Amino acid sequence: MSTALVILAAGKGTRMNSDLPKVLHEIAGAPMLAHAITSGLTLDPSRLVVVAGHGAEAVTKAAEETCPLAQIVLQEEQKGTAHAVEQARSVLDGFEGDVIVLYGDTPFIRPETLEAMREARARHDVVVLGFEAADPARYGRLVMDGDRLDRIVEFKDASDEERAITLCNSGLLCAPGPLLFELLSAVGNDNAAGEYYLPDVVALANARGLSSGVVTCDEAETLGVNSRAELARAEALFQARARADAMENGVTLQAPDTVYFAFDTFIGGDTVIEPNVVFGPGVTVENGARIRAFSHLEGCHVSRGGVIGPYARLRPGAELAEDVKIGNFVEIKEARLDRGAKVNHLSYIGDAEIGEGTNIGAGTITCNYDGVFKHQTRIGARALIGSNTMLVAPVSVGDDAMTGSGSVITTDVEPGALALGRAKQVNKPGFARKLFEMLKYKKASQAKEAE
Ligand code: UD1
Ligand code: MG
Repeated sequence: MSTALVILAAGKGTRMNSDLPKVLHEIAGAPMLAHAITSGLTLDPSRLVVVAGHGAEAVTKAAEETCPLAQIVLQEEQKGTAHAVEQARSVLDGFEGDVIVLYGDTPFIRPETLEAMREARARHDVVVLGFEAADPARYGRLVMDGDRLDRIVEFKDASDEERAITLCNSGLLCAPGPLLFELLSAVGNDNAAGEYYLPDVVALANARGLSSGVVTCDEAETLGVNSRAELARAEALFQARARADAMENGVTLQAPDTVYFAFDTFIGGDTVIEPNVVFGPGVTVENGARIRAFSHLEGCHVSRGGVIGPYARLRPGAELAEDVKIGNFVEIKEARLDRGAKVNHLSYIGDAEIGEGTNIGAGTITCNYDGVFKHQTRIGARALIGSNTMLVAPVSVGDDAMTGSGSVITTDVEPGALALGRAKQVNKPGFARKLFEMLKYKKASQAKEAE
C-alpha cells in the first residue's frame, strides 16, 4: 500500500517572535521542517505534500531542498489543522493509499514510530499517535473506550474530568486518503477556538461505525517547538542523543557536553574528540582520527588517522586524506590534502591541492582571491613550503620543490627547485651600534632641553 505524507507548516509561530517562519528555525544546522521531512522519507512515501502559509516562499525552498519531489500547497488563512490538511485535497485527488499527517514543528518523530502507525492501520481505520504526558498542559486529550479511541477533545473544550486524562494527542494521524478527505468535509468549527480541528475526524469515523486506535510513543519524540526556549530545549535534546549515539558507536568524547553535532555528522569508530569541538553540516570523519580541542569543522572530510587542531577550522570543501595533520590556527577551505600532508601552524589554505607528504610551514597563505575571482594553488608531493610563504594564485609548486621562508611566489616552481621570492639581505657592519649611539644621544639632549 502506498503512503502519502502531508506536513503541516503554515503556522506563523507567534511565540517565536521572529520574521522567519517557525518551521525554518534550525536544530543542529537544519530547519525543523527538514528534520520532519527526513524522518517521513524513511517510509519511502510515494507522495509528499507540504502545507505552507506564513513565509510560503522560504518554506517552499527549504522543503524542495530536502525533498525535490515535495508538492507545496498554500493555506492562505490559518483556520485550523483540518483546514490545513484540506488544502492537500486537490493534489491527492485519486490517491488511494494511506495519508500520514505530520507537523513541520515536531522534528523528533522516529522512523520506527511512523512505521508502527502505518502497521496499526491493519487494525484501525484511523490511527492517532499519542503519548503519556508528564505535564499534559494544553494538549488535546485522547478519550479511550477500552483499546479503541473514542474521540479527541481539545484542552479549550475539555471538561475537568477530560482534562485529568494524561494520554495526549501528538497531532500525527494516519488514515486512508479517500476516507480522510471524506471525513474532513464533515468537520465543523463550532468549538472554543472557532477552528477546524483535524482531531475531529476520529469521532466522525467512529460515528460511521469505523474504528479508531492509538499508537503511543515517548513524549520526547513529539516535542513541538513554539518558542525560543523550546527551540533551545529541542537543540539540547538533539545534542544529548547525538552524543550518546556517537559514544555508543565507539567514538570517544572527552567532554561530551561541550561537543556539538550537526544533523548529518558522521564520525567513525575509535576517533577521539577532545573538548569544545563544533561540527557544522556535512562533516564525515573516518575511524581512528583525533579532533583536538576548540576546532570547528563544516562540509569537510577527515580520513583515517587525521589529527585536527587544537584550534583548527575546516571549512566546506576541505578534503583530507589519511594521516593528514592540521594544527593550531589553520584554516582550510576547498582544498584537497593528500596522505600525510602537514599544515601545522597559523596558515590559510584555500582553493588548493597539496600533494602527499608535503609540509606547509607556519604562516603560509594561499592568496586565492583577486577581489573578483578565486584562483587555484597546486603543490606537488614531498614539497617544503617555507614559513610565511605567500602563494599568489594561480600558481603551482612541483614535487620535491622548496620555497624559502618569507617568499612571495608569483610564478610556477618546477619540480625539485628552490624558489626564493624575497628581497636580498644586506648586512652593514657596525651600523647598528652607531645608530643606537645616535638615538641615545638624541634622547639625552631632549631630556636636557626639557629641564
Ligand atoms: C494541535 C492539536 C492538539 C495536539 C497538539 C500537539 C488540533 C486542533 N489540536 O494543537 O490536539 O495535542 O497539536 O502539539 O489539531 N497548522 C497549519 N495551519 C493551521 C493550523 C495549524 O498549518 O491552520 C500547523 C501549525 O503550523 C503546526 C501544526 O499545524 O505545525 C499544529 O498547529 P498548532 O496550532 O500548534 O496546534 P495546537 O494548538 O498545538
Ligand atoms: Mg502546537
